Amino acid sequence: MEKLKIGIIGAGAIVETTHLPAILSLPETGVAWVYDKNETRSSMLSSMYGIPALTGASPDKALKDVDVCLLATPYGVRKPYIDRCRELGKALVIEKPFAFSEQEHKAYCQGFKEWAIAVNFQRRFYRSVAILNGIMQTRPFGRLRSLRFVQGNFTLKGGSGFISNVGLAGGGVIAESASHILDIMLFITGASKVRVTQKKCLHVAGLDYDTEFDSEFTTPDGLIPVSCAISTLRNLDNGLYLDFENALVSCDVSPDGAVFVRDRQSGRVELELQGEALAGNVASQPPAGSAGLQARRINEAFFIFWQQFAEGMLKQKPNATSAYSCLLTSAWLEGVYSTLK
Ligand SMILES: NC(=O)c1ccc[n+]([C@@H]2O[C@H](COP(=O)([O-])OP(=O)(O)OC[C@H]3O[C@@H](n4cnc5c(N)ncnc54)[C@H](O)[C@@H]3O)[C@@H](O)[C@H]2O)c1
Repeated sequence: MEKLKIGIIGAGAIVETTHLPAILSLPETGVAWVYDKNETRSSMLSSMYGIPALTGASPDKALKDVDVCLLATPYGVRKPYIDRCRELGKALVIEKPFAFSEQEHKAYCQGFKEWAIAVNFQRRFYRSVAILNGIMQTRPFGRLRSLRFVQGNFTLKGGSGFISNVGLAGGGVIAESASHILDIMLFITGASKVRVTQKKCLHVAGLDYDTEFDSEFTTPDGLIPVSCAISTLRNLDNGLYLDFENALVSCDVSPDGAVFVRDRQSGRVELELQGEALAGNVASQPPAGSAGLQARRINEAFFIFWQQFAEGMLKQKPNATSAYSCLLTSAWLEGVYSTLK
């Protein structure tokens, strides 16, 4: 079998630690070259992994010779590369955050088949997410009444690199980190619409540092209220909390994090869903779109991501994180960021 030839633009930390090990260990994928505007980075990855590094001002010409471009630069510099891939008919894997409005999202997708453009929302493959998905599908605790997501970690590190530059990062901690969980909430509820109803945000020129916002999902079960608190200034009681008719469910959304089921009245933990015991229990349904593959480690999630993407390309079937499947995530970011920029 011919391997998919992948050209990588952006030789940063995420490519070094997670994309390259996954791509190089799959039989379906291989690396044609790696390019970075900082040649020190591309030549370092070239030595580490024994892959060709492109030198020169631009990868424009070399893109002609690949099947897929992995675009792992910061958000703010991606557009010319997306346009070039569209022009050349090349498939595209793009890092998150993908877009900050529905319009921008649709414009990027234009001209790409559903299987030929993916966003790396690899957390959709986490085992904890599969468990939550199983609960949503089999309904052991009744109807979902509301959702709450909390991510608050006080950090004195400050912003370094692209994340302190809104032109490059597109936003602050919500865009850079929490957008994964926003995506997961939409994914597991099967929402068809999202609307931000209220927000309070401490931000500096579009970089959010502490935000509380309420939203409303339109789902097959009706309207579901969703509240979020996302901060780099406060330590909070972190987790994803699902309030069902007959139980409270919570999870830290780490790959192999346990899912706790609590009594609604007392808050006492009644059940800890984790590990193989669950396979024949509430999560027996494979998670939508992920063919039942579940990652217990971050690297496994990247591996599954690339495996699914390659299979989608070969069979011409949309992969589980096709850009077409996460339009609402961009719509939600639009609602959250609309008045901050
Ligand atoms: N999906 C995930 O789980 C996940 C995890 C971490 C990071 N990310 C995303 O991946 C992207 C990269 O993150 P990172 O941590 O690797 O950042 P990084 O700063 O380590 O790497 C970014 C690289 O892009 C290069 N670059 C910048 N502008 C460029 C240009 N115009 N042309 C070519 N190269 C350019 C930089 O020189 C740098 O080497 C970000 O958008 C980030 O949000 C996604």
